[in-house]
Amino acid sequence: MDKKKVFSGIQPTGEVHIGNYLGAIKNWISLQDSYDCVFSIVDYHAITVEYDPSVLESRILNVAATNIAAGLDPNKVILFVQSMVPEHTELTWFLTCLTSIGALERMTQFKEKASRQKGNIFAGLMNYPILQAADIVLYKAEFVPVGEDQLQHLELAREIVRRFNSTFGKEVFPEPKSLLTSGARVMALNDPTSKMSKSLPGSYISLTEDPDSIRKKIMRAVTDPGPQGSEMGPGIKNLFTLLEGFASSEVVTKFKNDYAAGNLRYKDLKETLAEAIIDGLTPIRERKEEILSKPEDLKEILNEGGRKARAQAVETLKEVRDIMGFNFPKA
Ligand code: TYM
Repeated sequence: MDKKKVFSGIQPTGEVHIGNYLGAIKNWISLQDSYDCVFSIVDYHAITVEYDPSVLESRILNVAATNIAAGLDPNKVILFVQSMVPEHTELTWFLTCLTSIGALERMTQFKEKASRQKGNIFAGLMNYPILQAADIVLYKAEFVPVGEDQLQHLELAREIVRRFNSTFGKEVFPEPKSLLTSGARVMALNDPTSKMSKSLPGSYISLTEDPDSIRKKIMRAVTDPGPQGSEMGPGIKNLFTLLEGFASSEVVTKFKNDYAAGNLRYKDLKETLAEAIIDGLTPIRERKEEILSKPEDLKEILNEGGRKARAQAVETLKEVRDIMGFNFPKA
């Protein structure tokens, strides 16, 4: 039987953090055997806010190496750089003509990023979710493993798919569904009411962070008692999310029992959590260094991924151009 198609992407902006890992990458790795997976380092997305062209390539290689070091196997999945497949931008234009401005203006992430942007807000920032929809449908993906922050974008992608299929009277694209993990919303360590994010200093632990720094950040993590009663405060809840991501189920159960019995010691929880994260990340950090020491091999993996992705993208674009009435040049 044919495997179901999965697509997801990650931006090459700064370090990959444990939120990306628990919300998305770990899931990508667990899907790679049973699904037909296409994963992209989405460099076109990374230019919707100010960026430095001179570091873009090294950031792409850094993110690619981190994913492979974490366990993504390029022999099982297609791992590629988005800009190697220009069909993403062509399809974006077609979909742009089917997307309402009102829907784009309602996107939470757009509102947040626009409010932080000094100076002009460019159209790319608002149109970004259309590019994201194009990323997914170009490969006719049915499933999209992401963190919770991407659900609104995915809902818009579903809306665009419905409009495309009904406008042109054919089920060209499947409606993509999200795949979430229990770590789909990892919160900032220094402010557990905001999500962990590359753009919030002090909020995250990178996948290649050294042990001392991991210990410091976990020991300093905010643990407000939160609301009264049996509900956990957001800081503690976040530490449990991380514990579930990095420690064994026995350890998680022990601390949950301690919490329920009212004798959880935050210091013990934090010490155990820090060591579990260190144990989980040390092999990733070491493998990543090894991968980055052979940049030519890494580039070849990405080139090969780009070739495979493009072959699929060209087929979809042919179908889209045909159904939308773009038939030139004539044979
Ligand atoms: P990006 O690069 O911001 O994040 C990559 C993945 O990590 C997840 N994530 C989190 N999960 C849990 N807790 C967090 N604190 C956290 N922070 C980030 C994100 O949800 C994401 O799954 N626009 C997307 C990339 C993209 C994409 C796509 C995704 C482009 N095209 C098509 C899916 C399908 C982004 O900026 O992700």
